[in-house]
Amino acid sequence: MPARRILTGITTSGTPHLGNYVGAIRPAIAASRRGDAESFYFLADYHALIKCGDPERVQRSTLEIAASWLACGLDPDKVFFYRQSDIPEIPELTWLLTCVTAKGLLNRAHAYKAAVDANTAGGEDADAGITAGLYMYPVLMAADILIFNAHEVPVGRDQIQHIEMARDIGQRCNHLYGGEFFTLPEARVEEHVATLPGTDGRKMSKSYDNTIPLWLPAGELRKAILGIVTDSRAPGEAKDPDSSNIFAIYQAFATADEAAAMREAFAAGIGWGEAKQRLFERVDAELAPLRASYEALIADPARIEALLHAGAAKARQRSAPFITRLRHAAGIRRLTDAPARPRAADPAALALPQLKSYRESDGRFHFKLEDAAGTLLLRSRGFDAPREAGRLSAALVETGGDPARLRQLLLECVPADELALPIEPIAAALAALKAARLAKAKAAS
Ligand code: TRP
Repeated sequence: MPARRILTGITTSGTPHLGNYVGAIRPAIAASRRGDAESFYFLADYHALIKCGDPERVQRSTLEIAASWLACGLDPDKVFFYRQSDIPEIPELTWLLTCVTAKGLLNRAHAYKAAVDANTAGGEDADAGITAGLYMYPVLMAADILIFNAHEVPVGRDQIQHIEMARDIGQRCNHLYGGEFFTLPEARVEEHVATLPGTDGRKMSKSYDNTIPLWLPAGELRKAILGIVTDSRAPGEAKDPDSSNIFAIYQAFATADEAAAMREAFAAGIGWGEAKQRLFERVDAELAPLRASYEALIADPARIEALLHAGAAKARQRSAPFITRLRHAAGIRRLTDAPARPRAADPAALALPQLKSYRESDGRFHFKLEDAAGTLLLRSRGFDAPREAGRLSAALVETGGDPARLRQLLLECVPADELALPIEPIAAALAALKAARLAKAKAAS
């Protein structure tokens, strides 16, 4: 079995555009052909419900995106190509993960925070119009990734935080369930893949309303390309390819030789009209044959439906046995099953970082700080008296993570060679510990 699993999801809320093609579809299909990894591509229709309240659009987008990937050469026999909602293990895992995910982690998600900030700025209630779906988005995405134990997730920068959350949640689960159930995924941001400018020069994106749909008929594609904004330089004036949207898009489709020739044409003062015509011809040359397959596919939804079903059946050969193990680990088991070894299963306690004191064989007293997932953050030097170790660890918590006081105290606590420790995770853990102690003291009073 190949070692690496690469997985990515496409939210089915829109119509594929040139930016999707260049930035996601084309590179992903090229990667799937390299054959040194297993590729998982899926249509994230449950995610689409979060952004899109139009059922017809979700269905249409699912059809269009599936047809696009197939038309562009994705081979469903070589990869796992499925629709999220055909894999019941995904929502099932979502709930298991939900129960170990810290609410505070989700509070920090960019998409949720941005929505809260917009509300606050507009004088609204902080959570006005925000669904629990938006809030839970990172957990559903973690389930997508963890259910197939993906190693790598190719994503745009805006999604990196979600992959980190998936790691965090997976790690917590491994800890809680007492085993290496989940592979911890890594985000892969494709640095060399072009982000295409849209018709207004900003990044091509549905949210800017500046996209060129991928499957426009040739005549409309030409019109859309003629509509791309340029500066007002006249024919005959030299133009700078590196600041030109036309050139950027051309380059995403051209060979190195073609791009070099276009650079020369820019220097020689090619008119914008002609540059756009050449751009259209180049793009259309690549897309025309794919467009023909797309039209055939989109006209036959039953065929795509069947392909997706077959893809789901293949993927479920992995997800179904895995969820059985996970359910068992979580305690959702037959009453006749033997219980696993008893463990301290208090999720509230496990969700906190821990300060532990211990004695080494040399008789000296130490303490260490671990984050909620049990990762070692800090190990103290040895102290002759337990009181001294206790006093310093209490003082650390008392800082609440305040960096200035923490730095000062660390000088006393840790061996000189550990002074270069990254301070942020330590500070975060101490802040959490102090907050928990204050909350406990308050509850007791
Ligand atoms: N959230 C991703 C996006 O909007 C889509 C997505 C859903 C995804 N689940 C995923 C991407 C799992 C990678 C892995 O682009």
